[in-house]
Amino acid sequence: MKMKNLLCVALSLALVLGLAKSFDFHESDVGSEKSLWDLYERWRSHHTVSRSLDDKHKRFNVFKANVMHVHNTNKMDKPYKLKLNKFADMTNHEFRSAYAGSKVNHHRMFRGATRGNGSFMYEKINRVPPSVDWRKKGAVTDVKDQGQCGSCWAFSTVVAVEGINQIKTNKLVSLSEQELVDCDTKENAGCNGGLMEYAFEFIKQKGGITTENNYPYKANAGSCDASKENDPVVSIDGHETVPANDEAALLNAVANQPVSVAIDAGGSDFQFYSEGVFTGDCGTGLDHGVAVVGYGTTVDGTDYWIVKNSWGPEWGEQGYIRMQRNISDKEGLCGIAMEASYPIKNSSENPKPRSSPKDEL
Ligand SMILES: *[C@@H]1O[C@H](CO)[C@@H](O)[C@H](O)[C@H]1NC(C)=O
Ligand SMILES: *[C@@H]1O[C@H](CO)[C@@H](O)[C@H](O)[C@H]1NC(C)=O
Ligand SMILES: *[C@@H]1O[C@H](CO)[C@@H](O)[C@H](O)[C@H]1NC(C)=O
Repeated sequence: MKMKNLLCVALSLALVLGLAKSFDFHESDVGSEKSLWDLYERWRSHHTVSRSLDDKHKRFNVFKANVMHVHNTNKMDKPYKLKLNKFADMTNHEFRSAYAGSKVNHHRMFRGATRGNGSFMYEKINRVPPSVDWRKKGAVTDVKDQGQCGSCWAFSTVVAVEGINQIKTNKLVSLSEQELVDCDTKENAGCNGGLMEYAFEFIKQKGGITTENNYPYKANAGSCDASKENDPVVSIDGHETVPANDEAALLNAVANQPVSVAIDAGGSDFQFYSEGVFTGDCGTGLDHGVAVVGYGTTVDGTDYWIVKNSWGPEWGEQGYIRMQRNISDKEGLCGIAMEASYPIKNSSENPKPRSSPKDEL
């Protein structure tokens, strides 16, 4: 009953987005070494992963262990399911260093940032809708893919800025993570991690951020293209921090705009998350930046956050994860309520387009 409902959510989204079906496997695939090897070959061709023959045997051992983890977890009665996604032949350690940003000094990445100035504009709100989905209101762009670059912080920042810009101007404009990766280098570290609050401050100081089209994503850090940096298209007026360890405060903020959050994404259930409401074990070692773009409650009464990730649309529920909300730990699941922040944009004004020769006539 529970899973049926979840499946329908995933299915209708898949239809809307027109995505190819995911990679499935069965009991018979895990029966023998031979069937596992065939499964590995099938997985590699599905995800177009090429490995040298030498590497392949090493990777196969990792793959087998991951297959068993996914298989055994899915047999348990958990509200979420796992799948063999593109991370299926990476160890959890490799996964964490490549995608969850743990190669970055943790304190540099997620501590000591400007904590806004202490004010919280959504403090006095005492009624919010039972559910909100900013995707349905047209405030969220398609899921993006950070690739093997620790730029989650830039993606998280951009989701929140794209969101508030759409809310204020009614226009959804995809914005440039690459500008942040290349140009916001004073405190942030490109593919080696960064903080959303620094990035909001950078965008404010620069008078705005340019578009994805103008400064497309490359998944590696390069030198700053100043002409693009000096072509801001969407501006913000500042940022604020959601009071820490308070899911009710986070709810007030998300009811009003998409919010950047830091989470602990290093667990293997997170690595292989497929669908459902994630209730898995994770700590509060914040190592990943994502954005909350809504919330709701399942028919069986489980409260969840709708979280946009930046690992491409094949991961999770078409690139999203629903994470359990309203839990007894005040930090929230995976520390989601510990370091939430959002940009302020108090008018619908954006920078004037750079004058072109034609305008000057
Ligand atoms: C914080 O920001 C608010 C709103 O912009 C402002 O009214 C207040 O004076 C600021 N406080 C400090 C300490 O800067
Ligand atoms: C949190 O859960 C409790 C039940 O455990 C429920 O009464 C309450 O309304 C929930 N709060 C929110 C904000 O969803
Ligand atoms: C927008 O916010 C900034 C910073 O809080 C403030 O200086 C500015 O006056 C505000 N503008 C409007 C139109 O409210």
